[in-house]
Amino acid sequence: MFMSGQIKRVLITGGTGSIGRQLTKALLQQGYEVSLLSRKPGNDPLVRTFTWNVNAGHIDENCIEGVDAVIHLAGAGIADKKWTEQRKKELTDSRTNSIALIYHLLKTRPNQVKRIISATAVGYYGNRADEILSEQSAAGEGFMSECCIAWERAIDKGKTLGLPIVKFRTGVMLDKNTGALPQMALPVKLFAGAPLGNGKQWIPWIHHTDVIGMYLFALENETLEGVFNMVAPEPATNKQLTKAIAKQLRRPVWPFNVPAFVLNLLLGEMSIIVLGSTRASAEKIKSAGYIFKHPVLSEALKDIYG
Ligand SMILES: NC(=O)c1ccc[n+]([C@@H]2O[C@H](COP(=O)([O-])OP(=O)(O)OC[C@H]3O[C@@H](n4cnc5c(N)ncnc54)[C@H](OP(=O)(O)O)[C@@H]3O)[C@@H](O)[C@H]2O)c1
Repeated sequence: MFMSGQIKRVLITGGTGSIGRQLTKALLQQGYEVSLLSRKPGNDPLVRTFTWNVNAGHIDENCIEGVDAVIHLAGAGIADKKWTEQRKKELTDSRTNSIALIYHLLKTRPNQVKRIISATAVGYYGNRADEILSEQSAAGEGFMSECCIAWERAIDKGKTLGLPIVKFRTGVMLDKNTGALPQMALPVKLFAGAPLGNGKQWIPWIHHTDVIGMYLFALENETLEGVFNMVAPEPATNKQLTKAIAKQLRRPVWPFNVPAFVLNLLLGEMSIIVLGSTRASAEKIKSAGYIFKHPVLSEALKDIYG
């Protein structure tokens, strides 16, 4: 891989998170300069950290100086806390008001930003059974869809600044140490692995290397623009994924499922995260020329658990 001629310095919001940490490392390895926008000062000598307070509308105005591209990853953790009305507002505002602060800066200060790349989520589509979901598909219903619609609208306001925008509707990133996989693997490791609900819901998984690969691809391809599903080419059902994890970890899977009502009782509205079905298609990013490093689930898990 090589750097785009145009883009040398990248500012990442929420760059301390699970995607941001890996992305920062990969960008530094490729020779990019990286700076972060964070709620707290950083201590990595290789990256400069600027601070902001999204709720208070404060942003260190110097963060934009010399920056060629902004990658927007910031947002309160979707599955970290119960979805009260206040939490839902926090989940949305931390994604929309944050990018609005950056756009305000771009309007009011001289800058050389050429590109905005942002995370959004496959939660945009909601719970859609077996429907194959392309980027053209309509949004779904429920809080996650509403949050993603607001998030994408806020990102699209950058178009009024004449900036090309790439949005990645991110699926379930598989990583050994963070996110959904350790939570799915724990019961399996404890010999208590079982599919959730009816186990037929589609999980739009993606290997963490391909998440990072697509962000690099979006930086390197000046013509890439628009919304793309960030998912592997072959989604798996919850049952298939549970079985594949168990096979990799050499553990059994129980022949019965965890009933949906138990998960509804435990998680309330958030149960959609584990029970919702999203069969998102990777065709658009493939057609744009992205080559997956880990397109096959069994091989992706083998790589992760090594
Ligand atoms: N990982 C996945 O599987 C996945 C799937 C779908 C979508 N996404 C989206 O992709 C983005 C990055 O994912 P990730 O897994 O790296 O997320 P993450 O680990 O939760 O990190 C997000 C970062 O956002 C910042 N943040 C948290 N709360 C905030 C708040 N209230 N206001 C402003 N900033 C806040 C934090 O950075 P500081 O502490 O430095 O401020 C945090 O490190 C997120 O928007 C996420 O929703 C991820």
